[in-house]
Amino acid sequence: MISVISVLLLAGATVANAACSATISSLSDVAAAVKCTSITLNGFTVPAGQGLTLSLASGTTVNMAGDIFFGNQSWAGPLFTVSGTGVTFNGNGHKFDGGGPFYWDGQGINGGTTKPDPMMKIKISGTFENVHVVNSPGRVYSVSNPAPLTMTNLVVDNSQGDAPNSKSGGAAAGHNTDGFDVSTNDLTIQNSQIHNQDDCLAINKGTNIVFKGNSCTGGHGISIVRCNFISVIDSMLMNLLGDQALRIKTKSASTGSTVKNVTYSGNTATGIRQFGVIIDQSYPDTLGTPGTGVIISGVNFVAPASTLTVNSGAKKVAVNCGKNACTGSWNWSNLKVNGGVAGPITNFAGITGFSQ
Ligand SMILES: *[C@@H]1O[C@H](CO)[C@@H](O)[C@H](O)[C@H]1NC(C)=O
Ligand SMILES: *[C@@H]1O[C@H](CO)[C@@H](O)[C@H](O)[C@H]1NC(C)=O
Ligand SMILES: *[C@@H]1O[C@H](CO)[C@@H](O)[C@H](O)[C@H]1NC(C)=O
Repeated sequence: MISVISVLLLAGATVANAACSATISSLSDVAAAVKCTSITLNGFTVPAGQGLTLSLASGTTVNMAGDIFFGNQSWAGPLFTVSGTGVTFNGNGHKFDGGGPFYWDGQGINGGTTKPDPMMKIKISGTFENVHVVNSPGRVYSVSNPAPLTMTNLVVDNSQGDAPNSKSGGAAAGHNTDGFDVSTNDLTIQNSQIHNQDDCLAINKGTNIVFKGNSCTGGHGISIVRCNFISVIDSMLMNLLGDQALRIKTKSASTGSTVKNVTYSGNTATGIRQFGVIIDQSYPDTLGTPGTGVIISGVNFVAPASTLTVNSGAKKVAVNCGKNACTGSWNWSNLKVNGGVAGPITNFAGITGFSQ
């Protein structure tokens, strides 16, 4: 009898603790706060060389009530990490400021100063919304959700990185500032605005990724490296001073991998310098000798139409497949590319409904 009562008390205590509310106003508040499932994240500055890491209990709701800044120091990051299942994270329009101008040297994450990268590591399932990120030192979001995650109404503003600075030798100061770097399943990113200097969305691998109603400015468009099943890509890509709007690139040396069932719809893009659409199996080369170890199938443009406007001299479409490595019939009747010139289509005759 006594043991039954103590078990009940223990259970009661656990529930009461989880249901508590907590406020984080400095790093020293974090350890106690993450035991509660209702958290208010106030604005503060995280000390230089440290990150803000929230390992949340299942079902936690986080509401931001101020802006988060990070002290400036060359280190590897990440600056912000959040993990947990069934989480509701609401930025309420507040920002995370990465202090990018302190780090930017035109060399990104592969040279120059060591930069905190990625800035935002998202490892939750549930929802993540209304967050603004300003001036990421390197890549912005890295997403590896443990179960379905919807990211909505986000702003990434790295526009300051478009201009050269004293360290960038005339190049854009911001570099490798990918908007979303994704190796994951069951992710929706929607209704967001991204202004950066590299891929807007890079799918390194994954299944069931939906990218819709977003606008991408200044970067390199959307890149898919490996993905299986349903990547629905539906976005506005504006002023892509970079290379291509929609790209699938596979490493020439890769084997035993697939890219399949990629659906593009309703994309619009302007200002593209090199390729409207490029599907290339020769990465890291561009239109080099393609590999045959990654099978690409089911790449379709469906209604509503995607309309890409490329600069004069740019290629409308380039497809560079290894022998027998692109398969099936791909319906591109809902792709329109204005401007530019025809690009090469190598080792593949399965595209229907489109000519350039
Ligand atoms: C870090 O440096 C950048 C660039 O000088 C500046 O905009 C930002 O306010 C600095 N961050 C902090 C927390 O001092
Ligand atoms: C592609 O994904 C769609 C949407 O889920 C699905 O209906 C279709 O069967 C898939 N096609 C292939 C070839 O896997
Ligand atoms: C391609 O899609 C269009 C629009 O849905 C359709 O009218 C056409 O029949 C399809 N072509 C093939 C070869 O399936």
